[in-house]
Amino acid sequence: MANSYPISTTLFLSILSTSVALMTTSIISSSPLTTKAAAITNPVSHHHDDYVISSGEDHGPSGGKRQQLTHLRFYWQNDASSSPNATDVVVVQPVSNSSAFGCISMMDDPLTVGPSLGSALVGRAQGFYACASREAFGLLMAMNLVLLRGEYNGSSVTVLGRNEVPLKVRELPVVGGTGVFRMATGYALLTTSFFDPAAGIAVVEYNVYIWHY
Ligand SMILES: *[C@@H]1O[C@H](CO)[C@@H](O)[C@H](O)[C@H]1NC(C)=O
Ligand SMILES: *[C@@H]1O[C@H](CO)[C@@H](O)[C@H](O)[C@H]1NC(C)=O
Ligand SMILES: *[C@@H]1O[C@H](CO)[C@@H](O)[C@H](O)[C@H]1NC(C)=O
Repeated sequence: MANSYPISTTLFLSILSTSVALMTTSIISSSPLTTKAAAITNPVSHHHDDYVISSGEDHGPSGGKRQQLTHLRFYWQNDASSSPNATDVVVVQPVSNSSAFGCISMMDDPLTVGPSLGSALVGRAQGFYACASREAFGLLMAMNLVLLRGEYNGSSVTVLGRNEVPLKVRELPVVGGTGVFRMATGYALLTTSFFDPAAGIAVVEYNVYIWHY
């Protein structure tokens, strides 16, 4: 994402980029496709890592202190197998054998740059989910996305929301953050890349849009 624009055009391009980013974001949020976001280039970026899709300034609805909009993309690697190294463990069983309702699982899942578990580690998703729907496979998810790489190493983003797993795209609110992401708001769009229920393995693409200062 690094660029070589002359300094004199950087401000203009920054504004342009932010407008494009905001427009694209609104399109993405109503569309199952997330590939448009990958086309965003951001002249503000100088040394971003390969999971940072864009990061630029937004003047905000009140024209107050400048907000940054950062779009991160990474892959959530969930191993709920019976392996001793599983990163997702059931701590409360469902209330009946006929649905998952009532289950609670703790997770400490790797977040990686690419869909392969072997790709570079970006951070970890630490938290739990509860099976909160009697009818659907609907989870209440509460987790901290702890970043461990590059300029965001040590910062975290907190996600709390509903995840109806069979849907093509799920939207979960970003309710806060720490470090670089202090005061964060935003949302995460989740799309399943790979799911093998028998093996207990799931890989989910996360596109996280974060407004912060
Ligand atoms: C668990 O992780 C350890 C250390 O990385 C590895 O040696 C072992 O083979 C793994 N076990 C399984 C069942 O994956
Ligand atoms: C679930 O099934 C197991 C074995 O089939 C049985 O022992 C258990 O009592 C059942 N649990 C409930 C809550 O019905
Ligand atoms: C992240 O920060 C920790 C603590 O400062 C450091 O030990 C670690 O090497 C850093 N990781 C990367 C990938 O820079």
